[in-house]
Amino acid sequence: MTNFNFNFKEEIHFNSSKSTLRNRLIMAPMTTLQSFYNGAVTEEEIQYYRARANGVGAIITGAANVEDLGKGWEGELSIAHDQMLPKLTKLAKAIHEGGAKSIVQIFHGGRMSDPAALNGAQAVSASAIAAERPNAITPREMTEAEIEATITAFGEATRRAIEAGFDGVELHGANTYLLQQFFSPHSNRRTDKWGGSIENRYRFIDEVLKSAFAVVDKYATKPFIVGYRFSPEEFETPGIRFDDTLWLVDQLAESRLDYLHVSLNFYSRIARSEAHQDKSILAYLHERLAGRKALVGVGGVRTTEDIANILGNAELVAVGQQLIVDPTWVEKISTNRENEAVTKSFDEAFRELDLTEPLHNFLDARYNSSPLI
Ligand SMILES: Cc1cc2nc3c(=O)[nH]c(=O)nc-3n(C[C@H](O)[C@H](O)[C@H](O)COP(=O)(O)O)c2cc1C
Repeated sequence: MTNFNFNFKEEIHFNSSKSTLRNRLIMAPMTTLQSFYNGAVTEEEIQYYRARANGVGAIITGAANVEDLGKGWEGELSIAHDQMLPKLTKLAKAIHEGGAKSIVQIFHGGRMSDPAALNGAQAVSASAIAAERPNAITPREMTEAEIEATITAFGEATRRAIEAGFDGVELHGANTYLLQQFFSPHSNRRTDKWGGSIENRYRFIDEVLKSAFAVVDKYATKPFIVGYRFSPEEFETPGIRFDDTLWLVDQLAESRLDYLHVSLNFYSRIARSEAHQDKSILAYLHERLAGRKALVGVGGVRTTEDIANILGNAELVAVGQQLIVDPTWVEKISTNRENEAVTKSFDEAFRELDLTEPLHNFLDARYNSSPLI
């Protein structure tokens, strides 16, 4: 039995928003693929999150698109219209019933949107450059007016999150979606104020942050968390390199964000950058932040030892797949019942659950081919 001499059970207070989470474990954002055709929350989705809300400090929902053109895939949440508010309100309430804070992840798919999810419309991005992926489409370059409208849409999504009773939003700047596409020299080849230098490529992120915080100031009547997720490196050339990410972290550290959340498949992952081989990506990021913001570590957490390892280099731990296959895992480990945890491979474990077909099929594809998320 593990001896709990580390601090995942401790509360965390965010300096900016003054919000508190009851412990250091949060459910990683994971699309459920269970939303209605128009992105409305379904009852299955509400049950899915309710079943996982009892132990964690917060649940971050799967990605929710802020605009129709930002829809990435079928079955994804939408926060693009006020008509979504009644069901979003039910979702936030279901998460609260388990005692967790509720954070909705907001995003725009940009050039990574599945054409099938856009009803025939062409996806948009910073520039008309296809991703280096099989079957990637070439997006349309966004006009200046579209960029401004999308910045406003992130703010409007934040307003809806507040009105629906969520405790926060996470801006999804990771996993190659639009916020990352503006920062990346691969997808952003613009020559106007939105592209070129790293400062210009950061401008879209900065404006989205301002848009979100203006809304928080105007509408929030209680502390409202705002976090930011990013991916540390890109494989494309040109592409985001680890030094660019350290620069990004410095900008974000000066903002009003409560936390930064790095997207990693494994928390111990080492950077591709030759100059950063001495420790994990997480350790470099934590060192760079030097306490300026809370850092969320993630990737491959299955045991309390993993939690302890992450908390050596982060303030918070996000848990993804373990919570899919073992919804009450956090309750178990919090009450010294780690011996009851599901330990079999995810591939075997998820087959024993009564998951809806889209999620089942997605996980089946994930474990039987190379993962894309
Ligand atoms: C089914 C599934 C859906 C995911 N959806 C999202 C998502 O909507 N947004 C996001 O930022 N990451 C998404 N991810 C990545 C997770 O947040 C997490 O970073 C990854 O699964 C590694 O953590 P884990 O090993 O604890 O699962 C998804 C992962 C899975 C397995």
